[in-house]
Amino acid sequence: MVEVFPDAAALMRGAALRFVSAASSSIARSGRCVVALSGGSTPAALYDLLASEFRSGVDWSRVQLCFGDERCVPPNHADSNYRMARERLLERVQVPAGNVHRIEGELEPQAAAAKYEALLRKLFDTPAGPPAVESGKRFDLVLLGLGEDGHTASLFPGTKAVEEAERWVVPVFVKRLNAWRVTLTTPVFDAAAEVCFLVSGAGKSGTLRRVLKDPVAPQRLPAQVIAPHHGTLRWLVDSAAAIEL
Ligand code: 6PG
Repeated sequence: MVEVFPDAAALMRGAALRFVSAASSSIARSGRCVVALSGGSTPAALYDLLASEFRSGVDWSRVQLCFGDERCVPPNHADSNYRMARERLLERVQVPAGNVHRIEGELEPQAAAAKYEALLRKLFDTPAGPPAVESGKRFDLVLLGLGEDGHTASLFPGTKAVEEAERWVVPVFVKRLNAWRVTLTTPVFDAAAEVCFLVSGAGKSGTLRRVLKDPVAPQRLPAQVIAPHHGTLRWLVDSAAAIEL
């Protein structure tokens, strides 16, 4: 479903409300809420809200925070998704350090991916095989962004990562950026209880239209492969991004 908000501020409030609601229902159901945070710049304002106005709406001691992808840089690097989340959110709420699971971007990409897959398999009590869709064994909430080239997380057009069907986490070399990334894969995202895309600004309007309206062509528009099979898919967008819909 697509929800259009009048502006970026309203979009972020809508996303914060979704976060609070996913956290309280998951915690009531299974005692915890496992979230995959998105990177890039868009979620910074959401993290600010979660760390301020909405902070008391979440029992942070029961939230497990993971990442949908990471740039292959050390955790203090300006490009690190972990660094952004730490500064905007993690340092400002009462989330126990043991509940934060970062992708180790400073490691060799293959090793970082293997290590993170092992961590997720332990968190979800699934030593082998595909992610299950029962509570406690999957993400309760996945936040994703949309790149102007149609990528999401670090599933970039023209990369093998887009078609990965078995591994939960893979390294990916992005030619355009001349950089390695580590990303969770479609089977993990698609097993989630809820996936929320956050898309803001006129610069994303053409891409958003193509992703939502064009025939599915994953190698061209990887965001199209995200389709939770036992969960909810939400596109939270502002009116500038929605102008071509
Ligand atoms: C990353 C991402 C990526 C991001 C989009 C949108 O690490 O860069 O997780 O998928 O969400 O590129 O990024 P912006 O919010 O900066 O436009």
